[in-house]
Amino acid sequence: MSNSLEQLKATGTVIVADTGDFESIAKYTPQDATTNPSLILAATKKTEYAKLIDVAVDYANQHDGDAKHKATLALDRLLVEFGKEILKIVPGRVSTEVDARLSFDKEKTIEKALHIIKLYEEQGISKDRVLIKVASTWEGIQAARELESKHGIHCNLTLLFSFVQAVACAEAQVTLISPFVGRILDWYKKSTGKEYTAENDPGVESVTDIYNYYKKYGYKTIVMGASFRNTGEIEALAGCDYLTISPKLLQELLDSTESVPAKLSVESAQASKHEKVSYVDDEATFRFLLNEDAMATEKLSEGIRNFAKDCVTLLDELEKRF
Ligand SMILES: *[C@@H]1O[C@H](CO)[C@@H](O)[C@H](O)[C@H]1NC(C)=O
Repeated sequence: MSNSLEQLKATGTVIVADTGDFESIAKYTPQDATTNPSLILAATKKTEYAKLIDVAVDYANQHDGDAKHKATLALDRLLVEFGKEILKIVPGRVSTEVDARLSFDKEKTIEKALHIIKLYEEQGISKDRVLIKVASTWEGIQAARELESKHGIHCNLTLLFSFVQAVACAEAQVTLISPFVGRILDWYKKSTGKEYTAENDPGVESVTDIYNYYKKYGYKTIVMGASFRNTGEIEALAGCDYLTISPKLLQELLDSTESVPAKLSVESAQASKHEKVSYVDDEATFRFLLNEDAMATEKLSEGIRNFAKDCVTLLDELEKRF
């Protein structure tokens, strides 16, 4: 009997490795992979990645400016260098994150994304192999809309915890959303003190709702469940377009032969009871509804703070090189 990972793939779900570590990416052969300052920060502690930093530092040294400015140039170049290495291993796309400090600035997000894509293109990598990762704030979603429609740049909308964010992303016709399952569960466990099973897991329910809504109304945006706490959550979302899974849970699935039937499908989505809603050009309603959802509001804010912090830490490290 095939292992649970193979069975999961057989439901049609595309698996993405949630790691910035080349070795584990090579081991689990995912379709796509991701980079971000947090993953890079962890990876740069290993000596085998030192040469990637050297490339980024050399690049920045070809430009004028103070150490701070050079560190910024080096960071973008470093993200691209990691992305380039990952693309040697995965057949699909690599996600590259826009500086989280720009999460509430549409124009600067667009500018940064265009710059990252330009750096990739200078390395001979086409924009079709890159997903620009942006937080699912109103501004981030509007930036993604423009990047997709005007520049043909694909976006991965992250820090997505609510239905309202998912609807706005679909209406912006972004390529992919990555709703966080485990982080939703964490919040509910902490605030209610209850334990949850895969059947009543609020993170699983959130992604199921989003998937059903998208399929029912024919939205093309890919739903990629992310941040899993256990394999039960993963199995409950079997059949979802994409799932991104940590090396630890990938290994558990690989070591298990438990059967993994599809739980989500386009057919069952058609039968779901969702009414159509719209927030096009309706920032006020979007913000109000997001604010009504305490979990999503807190988790989005916290996520941006943490991404921003890692970005600053990495910049500080790089600054020491100039
Ligand atoms: C999209 O972003 C999420 C969240 O950071 C990440 O886990 C995932 O791997 C990315 N997706 C792809 C297809 O690169």
